[in-house]
Amino acid sequence: MEDPELLIEEIAVENSSPTGGVISVWTLNRPDKLNALNSDSHMLIKKNCRLAEENPNIRCIIIKGSKPKKSIENKKPKPASFAAGADISEFIDKKSYDVRPFFEDNAWESVWNLSKPTIAMVDGFALGGGLELALSCDIRIASTRSTFGQPEINLGLIPGGGGSQRLCRLIGYGRTMEIILSGRMISANESLEMGIVNKLLEPEELESTCINLAKEISRKSPYTIKVAKRAVRFALEMPFSKGIESERDAFVSLFDTKDKEIGVKSYFDRTDPHWVGE
Ligand code: COA
Repeated sequence: MEDPELLIEEIAVENSSPTGGVISVWTLNRPDKLNALNSDSHMLIKKNCRLAEENPNIRCIIIKGSKPKKSIENKKPKPASFAAGADISEFIDKKSYDVRPFFEDNAWESVWNLSKPTIAMVDGFALGGGLELALSCDIRIASTRSTFGQPEINLGLIPGGGGSQRLCRLIGYGRTMEIILSGRMISANESLEMGIVNKLLEPEELESTCINLAKEISRKSPYTIKVAKRAVRFALEMPFSKGIESERDAFVSLFDTKDKEIGVKSYFDRTDPHWVGE
């Protein structure tokens, strides 16, 4: 039976090696609530992060929001959404001791800590915890009708899923301050200018572009991809000179892998590499 609030779909990657590679596509599925993240969504994301980590066939993960349902007559249609934040209804009458355990073990960190590459496919609103989920992914690709923001300040709150930290490292101090202190909506164009997203596409091109990128990544050696992801993270987590050293150590260690032999040989043979993932 499928989990209702997070739909999981696997897309086969042709010519992946080792064979059997898939992209795992996770759809936040609360369209009536603009895919706002409630406790169940968090629980399901955390569970699927564990499963994805254990499943060697999963090479890349795409996270997206479900499309709005067809509007009912005389009712305002719901807008497209990646996720319009944490579910505010779960904040009513809550005190710090109620929410602390939840926020200390949350979906944003589970996604961030995945060793496999992640792409946020944003079509519509990515607000508050929704933007934080996109920021927990490695790459963000959005449609031209998307809107971003950290509007927690309007609720008497601040981001609690890593937004202040990840946004600051991604786009810098001044821009992060502006977004968090004003709580204002950021248009798709502005998000591209600021560097929140890598790319903007028309809504109808979004899915195929994300899948193609995920497939491209999934055709590399899964072992080398993990080492590459970890190396880029050094830049966020270490002082510069230590990061340079750690990257060099990671690079040198790859000389003992089969996939380095396979990659270099296939370059000279002008053939496609058949990775073994070690
Ligand atoms: N938590 C819970 N429910 C949410 C939600 C959230 N973060 N965001 C949207 N919803 C719900 C609305 O309550 C509404 O439910 P209803 O139809 O049962 O009344 C439904 O989703 C549709 O939202 P609605 O506000 O009617 O759509 P809109 O097009 O008028 O406005 C937004 C869209 C995104 C501007 C507006 O929903 C909004 O401001 N959401 C909250 C954003 C936010 O503050 N996020 C940070 C939370 S920490």
